Amino acid sequence: KRPIIIDTDPGIDDAVALAIALFSEELDVRLITTVAGNVGLDKVTYNAERLLELFQKDIPVAMGASEPLIKKRIEATNVHGDSGMGGYEFAEPTKSYLINENAVNAMRRVIMESKEPITLVPIGPLTNIALLLKMYPEVKENIAEIVLMGGSTGRGNAGVMAEYNIFADPEAAKIVFSSKLPLVMVGLDVGWKALVYPEDSQKLKDMNKTGSMIYQLFQRYRGGSMKTGLKMYDSCAIAYLLKPEMFTVEETFVDIELNGSMTAGCTVVDFKGYLGQENNAKVCTDIDPDMFKTWFMESLAKCN
Ligand code: BDR
Ligand code: CA
Repeated sequence: KRPIIIDTDPGIDDAVALAIALFSEELDVRLITTVAGNVGLDKVTYNAERLLELFQKDIPVAMGASEPLIKKRIEATNVHGDSGMGGYEFAEPTKSYLINENAVNAMRRVIMESKEPITLVPIGPLTNIALLLKMYPEVKENIAEIVLMGGSTGRGNAGVMAEYNIFADPEAAKIVFSSKLPLVMVGLDVGWKALVYPEDSQKLKDMNKTGSMIYQLFQRYRGGSMKTGLKMYDSCAIAYLLKPEMFTVEETFVDIELNGSMTAGCTVVDFKGYLGQENNAKVCTDIDPDMFKTWFMESLAKCN
């Protein structure tokens, strides 16, 4: 089993990604860390705990950053609802999954204690990961790879060209992209093709407890408009870990625009090498939507 740490801000599509990862036979989720993003830190952490309770998975949760490094915090309640996971009546967790250690220290401990290198899977703003790499650079030696959901090679969803997770904390993203660690950017180019339609959602309804929860969350996701497809952004990062053959990947140099008056917070993907920099990322430029759909439904069928 491949050991991973998921850094997340649940978030409806985060909830789905967590379900798939936690019930996968090939992944060993050693730790879940939370970061302020779609909604505030208390809410995303509570959401992570409510999900673990529903999944009946005893995975430690560590709370991370409540604010981006420099920017003011922005939420995405228009997409995920005020609680971050609107639309489903979750049961109160019967126990606390939270550990008494912050996300950065917990990640350091789990990485340093692991016999095999750990893969980091950030599916929210990159604040915690940036802090980890700056506070404890020694962890780099035992990180296999960072597979992150974020960025775009073109259009954005939080700005003209900016994707939400990068836009929410661009300085953190800059630290991560310049870390020299093996990095995979799973961004909007593929997220926009990883779609779930009403008929798929209907199949989830009676699939299992997790499916029925996801079905109900989907009724509220992005205000409930499902006809053009719901975008399963964060599940794409998990898909990359489990079935990379569904992606087209190009190795290139990526930097983060911090100051552009119209482009701040966007990923500058230098396919043609204008900037003369060494490649620092594998960028997912395309996905096979049918393969994704089949994998997605089969993966969720394995849940409780
Ligand atoms: C990303 O932004 C968040 O709203 C989603 O959870 C996903 O991680 C997509 O841009
Ligand atoms: Ca997310």
